[in-house]
Amino acid sequence: MNDLDRRASLAAVGGLLVPTLVFGGCAKAAKNHSDKDEQSGGEGEVTANEDLMREHGVLRRILIVYREAAPRIAADPSKVDAGALATAATLFRAFGEQYHEQKLEEQHIFPAVAKAGGPAAGLVDTLKAQHQRGREITAFVLDQTKGGRIPTSQTAALARAMSGFTRMYEAHAAREDTIVFPAFKQALGQKRYDELGEQFEEIERQQFGGDGFDMAVDKVAGVEQALGLADLATFTAPPLARS
Ligand SMILES: [Fe+2]
Ligand SMILES: [Fe+2]
Repeated sequence: MNDLDRRASLAAVGGLLVPTLVFGGCAKAAKNHSDKDEQSGGEGEVTANEDLMREHGVLRRILIVYREAAPRIAADPSKVDAGALATAATLFRAFGEQYHEQKLEEQHIFPAVAKAGGPAAGLVDTLKAQHQRGREITAFVLDQTKGGRIPTSQTAALARAMSGFTRMYEAHAAREDTIVFPAFKQALGQKRYDELGEQFEEIERQQFGGDGFDMAVDKVAGVEQALGLADLATFTAPPLARS
């Protein structure tokens, strides 16, 4: 099956309005689940926590986009590609908020760790509040970037919102990776944990009509390209200048 056929078959799957809008033009990503299985060695090779943590990797790349774009917006919004930022925010909404947060964490992870008690349970209320605050900020970023240009009246507020979002979500995802997800795995036991890993894969297929992770990686790479952030080497710290 060529890329066009794959896209046509994915488009034929019902109930995929948001993913179609978000991922619609992404030929390379339009691969089916069996491709993923072939690469990873079979069903169940990507565990639930590995899935969740690599999803955080995609979200962190959007945070880097926000962090790099915020001072540019504050300095001169006319030089910032508003369409690329809108794509980044749309991806965060579809992949981060509507899938990772709402379908996985809020439905499965948080209830399990809250029931188990301990340090992870004590974080759940704050994590949920941060999801909500993030959604408010995403809505603001989308509103400010629609129409292909950033209005000059709100540049300081937009830059502040993006920086605040980055600061919050870096701490949020790091706590989830190191405290919440390990507690989730421990609370379930191996058998139930393996079952939920497969269930997460199924939710991903239903939500995106294919491998949502691969689609999201391609999408964020396009945003990085548009904003001049694609070359990893540009992030290497400068040599030490000792005085
Ligand atoms: Fe979260
Ligand atoms: Fe998360």
